[in-house]
Amino acid sequence: MNVNRRSFLAGTTAAMVMPNVALASPTILRAEPVVAQILPEGDGTTAMLGFNGSTPGPELRFRQGDEVSVQFENQTDEGSSLHWHGIRLANAMDGVPGLTQPLVLAGQRFDYQFQVPDAGTYWYHSHNRSWEQVAKGLFGPLIIEEQNPPLVDHDITVMLDDWRIEETGALMGGFGNTHDFAHAGRMGNYAKILPSRDTVRHGDRIRLRLINTATARIFPLKIEGLDGMVVALDGMPLQAPRPLAEVTLAPAQRIDVIGNVTGTVDFLFVARDGLYELGGITADGENTTPISDAIAELPAADVATPKEQPDHSLTLRMEGGAMGGRHAGDDIWAFNGVSGLPDVPWAQFQRGQTVMIDLVNDTSFPHGIHLHGHHFNEVNPDGTLGDIRDTSLVDARQSQKIAVVFDNPGKWLLHCHMLGHQASGMKTWVEVL
Ligand code: C2O
Ligand code: CU
Repeated sequence: MNVNRRSFLAGTTAAMVMPNVALASPTILRAEPVVAQILPEGDGTTAMLGFNGSTPGPELRFRQGDEVSVQFENQTDEGSSLHWHGIRLANAMDGVPGLTQPLVLAGQRFDYQFQVPDAGTYWYHSHNRSWEQVAKGLFGPLIIEEQNPPLVDHDITVMLDDWRIEETGALMGGFGNTHDFAHAGRMGNYAKILPSRDTVRHGDRIRLRLINTATARIFPLKIEGLDGMVVALDGMPLQAPRPLAEVTLAPAQRIDVIGNVTGTVDFLFVARDGLYELGGITADGENTTPISDAIAELPAADVATPKEQPDHSLTLRMEGGAMGGRHAGDDIWAFNGVSGLPDVPWAQFQRGQTVMIDLVNDTSFPHGIHLHGHHFNEVNPDGTLGDIRDTSLVDARQSQKIAVVFDNPGKWLLHCHMLGHQASGMKTWVEVL
């Protein structure tokens, strides 16, 4: 793993606390240049892009079932759009320029309006030149609350991110560098957590909503100071909470954890050569009336269960990149020999069909494959249905079957969420009729 040890260590204590903004509909998200304190307080600031004056953008919070309306104003100097990652929404609101909407040019606006059917942890991000616009800061958390949320003392969003940054604080250039694209992507030399709150009390029950907003880095993560259970993956509740052991978040993946604070909650990046502190939430004082109920499962999402006999079975073969792969086209990465978005969909399905897709990674790098507009079940090696997700991590030379009920009509992107891989070919689309 390409971690610059010194830079990582330089950031040990700094955690940036985001403003927690309560917003009533309609919400305005104005993309614009911002200045951020990425390096520790006292070091140089960083010219980035953000929303309403900050990066990450404001946390949007809605209630399950809400009709959401967001006015997107593009005050940057290039075209953009907003994608609502993981939301099963109407296709026209999915935010993919050229597939579901026109590019929102500099100075223009676009009104997004959609219903949020599932409670859980999601995020929004630019979907144009995302390997650069997301790396520069055009993203934010999107939290959909349950009708009856589980009882906690604090509900805390924790984004994990990295930056390729100079000691002065300036972002390094070279976005779109083909060497990065052909390898694991643009890895930062500085990483930390962005928590929405920086102190709790011993004994507090907290909910952590982890979101990996990095454009390329996979975060294997250890969390200390919390006696907790994993309760949801990619917004989707687990049938039964699982003890919190080491967890892994591929780019765009989310994990919800509920637990009781036993000490400062520390976030440790598990690298091959040791643990790196990404920041923490300080435990200060004592909660003398702690919540001691068992941590229960969240109410199940209303996602269709795949049929036992799929209507179609397909293979999506990831190819290309440095160090092999059979793809030899102009672009770096491909699915089934095709780089970039084809004019016609990779597959068309009748609404409601169950499709088994074998995600076969024929490359030397891991890929996090994201399907828009749907969630799917990962299929366990024994053929039973596994976790429900919207982004599935497939390690180098491995494969992962997913079972999808394509019940949301429209044109849906299917791509690698290592955003440099997406930019250099690893994307396609399906159509649900
Ligand atoms: Cu989060 Cu197509 O992306
Ligand atoms: Cu990839």
